[in-house]
Amino acid sequence: MLKAVYPGSFDPVTNGHIDIMERCAVFVEKLVVAVLDNPSKASLFSVEERVAMLKEATRNMPNVEVRSFYGLLVDFCRQVDAGLVIRGLRAVTDFEYEFKMALANRKLAEDIETVFISSSSDNMFISSSSIKEIAMFGGSVEDMVPECVKNCLDRKFKNREEK
Ligand code: COA
Repeated sequence: MLKAVYPGSFDPVTNGHIDIMERCAVFVEKLVVAVLDNPSKASLFSVEERVAMLKEATRNMPNVEVRSFYGLLVDFCRQVDAGLVIRGLRAVTDFEYEFKMALANRKLAEDIETVFISSSSDNMFISSSSIKEIAMFGGSVEDMVPECVKNCLDRKFKNREEK
């Protein structure tokens, strides 16, 4: 069974990530979307919130499963028995970081391969940070994130204003 892991912080998931998942889900039998639980990295959404948004956004993708993980990515891949890591590339600027990460992972686990999928041109400019910034200042993120994420961002920033 061709099983792949698509890891990330997903704080929050964007249409850019969904695009990569949809395109990947057609050539793998199972895609495990893995949310890094990294307590030392400041995030807007808790890991539970990020997993919940991803589950909602992928509920029409039957071969996609959403999990969180802590520790090394290659250990998580072994735990779920996946031999492929999927990463999206938006622009040349992503390449150096991604290439180093792929090399580090290969050094740790030679049997786990990284596959890069190029972003669609519509999503090249999207990042989780830009989404958070736009939403924080009241801009529209409608075409950039799934509906459930838009609602969560609205709630998050409304609650902050009320505090
Ligand atoms: N569309 C839109 N945005 C995208 C994107 C796409 N296709 N692909 C990446 N991004 C954005 C993300 O939104 C995020 O934006 P931000 O910086 O504004 O928040 C940024 O690119 C990178 O995020 P992400 O893909 O989530 O990667 P990451 O660097 O946060 O996480 C892990 C990378 C989780 C895969 C990596 O840290 C990891 O494996 N950690 C575990 C520890 C480990 O194994 N280390 C050894 C290997 S180095």
